[in-house]
Amino acid sequence: MSAIAPILQQFEAQLADLTKVADVLNLKAQILGKQGALSEILKGLKDATPEQRKTLGAEANVAKEKIEGLVQAKITLLETAEINANLSREKSDFSLRDSILERGLQAAGNHPVQIVQREIEDIFLSMGFEVLDGPHIEDDWHNFEALNIPATHPARDMQDTFWFADKKHLLRTHTSTIQVRGMKERKPPFRFVGPGKVFRCERTDASHEMCFHQLEGMMVGEDVSVGHLIYFMKTLLSEIFKRDVEVRLRPGFFPFVEPGFELDIRCLICAGKGCSVCKHVGWVELLPCGMVHPNVLRSGGIDPEKYNGFAFGLGLDRLVMMRYGIDDIRQIHAADLRFNSQFKSF
Ligand code: FA5
Repeated sequence: MSAIAPILQQFEAQLADLTKVADVLNLKAQILGKQGALSEILKGLKDATPEQRKTLGAEANVAKEKIEGLVQAKITLLETAEINANLSREKSDFSLRDSILERGLQAAGNHPVQIVQREIEDIFLSMGFEVLDGPHIEDDWHNFEALNIPATHPARDMQDTFWFADKKHLLRTHTSTIQVRGMKERKPPFRFVGPGKVFRCERTDASHEMCFHQLEGMMVGEDVSVGHLIYFMKTLLSEIFKRDVEVRLRPGFFPFVEPGFELDIRCLICAGKGCSVCKHVGWVELLPCGMVHPNVLRSGGIDPEKYNGFAFGLGLDRLVMMRYGIDDIRQIHAADLRFNSQFKSF
């Protein structure tokens, strides 16, 4: 065995114990430096036979390359560990401001949308409804086609859509997609609600956001009527507000319902006098609804000759605004703890 193998072995054993880059470099110098162990062996080659020179030379080159590789790997390891240690020592959380800490605002609490959403879910659960969920990323069929909104239908303009590059997928523009999925998965009679985030490419103002919340509702059976629809809407509002609120029902157009209605609530921010939330008309559009269009039932695999139903799409953020007197929807989405923490006690 040549003298090179033990040098390499010893080098590897020593290297494993080192914890400082400088020590690694020193060790490297002890072997590869001018006076280094390997260099000394190479110097001795001048007295060797041509045959010995050839094998020993090749062996020395392999060992040198290996040592250099191991040194580099060890240095990278030590430097990474040092950077990570520094990072964890100097970790700064920029979302925490002294003023927030001082006022104890970092303590947990539910977001107002979540508070109201859960209350509504409970109200509907107690009336025999299921609570369903649905994906944020949808396809054209679930968001439009199945809801009686074909590609050429002008109703598509009402919902400026965030499309994916494939032009087939989109961020759902309403929770009515949950109607389609819910119908497909069950047989009548059934009733369910489906809350969630929806997305529209809109300019924001006091009552409009690009990402907001809706709560869909659907009931399908053999003889569901507008009377049922009004009953459930009234129950919802009286349970949420725990007092009489003024509402109005007017005709509304949605391709997926026939007849369709808009249920508006008297603006509770300005008591109907006119403000930026109600756009100075005194009423806030809250709860569009109607009797499910036969084409929609068909898309869900339901026979419209036998069954009918109602559906609604509650604007959840606007309901939250009315309930708590919030005069700008952007507060709801600002993730500001000074705002959110005010709802801790509700
Ligand atoms: C719809 O989205 C229908 N899918 C609702 C529906 C379901 C109708 C079932 C009939 C049957 P609309 O685009 O009007 O409808 O939105 C429903 C509610 O969401 C509105 O009444 C309003 O309260 C709320 N809303 C709409 N756009 C915004 C927005 N940009 N920001 C906040 N809330 C909004």
